[in-house]
Amino acid sequence: MDVDLNSLKLVAKGKVKDIYEWGSKELLFVFSDRVSAYDVILPSLIPRKGEVLSAFASYFFSTLSLPNHMVQRVDRNKMIVKKLQMIRMECIVRGYMYGSLFERYKVNPMGLPSGLKRAEILGEPMFDPTTKSDKDVPITKAEAVKTVVTNEEYEFLREESLGLYRELSQQSEKADFIMADVKIEFGKDDDGRIFLADSIGPDEFRLWPRAKYQIGSLQESFDKQPVRDWLSSIGYKTKLDNALKIGSPVPEPPTLPQELIALVSGRYVEAYQRITGLTL
Ligand SMILES: Nc1ncnc2c1ncn2[C@@H]1O[C@H](COP(=O)(O)OP(=O)(O)O)[C@@H](O)[C@H]1O
Ligand SMILES: [Mg+2]
Repeated sequence: MDVDLNSLKLVAKGKVKDIYEWGSKELLFVFSDRVSAYDVILPSLIPRKGEVLSAFASYFFSTLSLPNHMVQRVDRNKMIVKKLQMIRMECIVRGYMYGSLFERYKVNPMGLPSGLKRAEILGEPMFDPTTKSDKDVPITKAEAVKTVVTNEEYEFLREESLGLYRELSQQSEKADFIMADVKIEFGKDDDGRIFLADSIGPDEFRLWPRAKYQIGSLQESFDKQPVRDWLSSIGYKTKLDNALKIGSPVPEPPTLPQELIALVSGRYVEAYQRITGLTL
């Protein structure tokens, strides 16, 4: 299907996807090549990223057991989905001590065993939701139940998210990857039924090649982690955190080096081909 975007109404431009109206009950997602890190859109594009994200989302929506919002994938980087009322909570499941969890753990162990190292596996996968806002922050069950979901919904989302992470981990394992964590979004239709929504792909999870896995260090990652790591290494992350702390505007993000762009693009394509067994 060839879609003429000029004839459609743009309803929202997200950090990565452009969202158009598609009739009254559906939306058209256009997966761009944009990349965001720490909730900031960067000025560089990652070639083929949109295509990979759309292909990955289509693959997972077709193979995972939960009801989801996909209607049909169109073109290389577009998907028609059911329009839903999004649940204002990002359902994160973590199997490993990494990223912002590791930073938080160093300050407050949150009931986790002491002495866990960076990238160490957790005894049990952990449901670790955040708010869904400009700057996502961890949310406790009590806060979530007070503001965004009922108690039953929270328990449902927790169970489904953990189950989904298990399924995704198994799929990754078959391709010799470790899925360290994943972010899942859900939405409700007019009848209140809950569907898996948004997208599932390397912008939503961390994927590590098992052969290179090493406790205690930064992992080689087949997702946008190399972008985050680079931004940290040049001091942008610290600058951003300082600005946010004192309420200053977000500092202008740097363009990414060409080698980093090529590396990330290649890894997105490789992750897709290894996990799905398909070529793009
Ligand atoms: N089925 C759906 N109906 C309505 N909104 C959705 C649906 N699935 C995902 N969304 C929302 O569309 C947006 C997707 O675009 P994205 O680029 O990821 O934006 P963001 O900057 O908010 O992360 C997200 O805000 C997501 O919550
Ligand atoms: Mg998003």
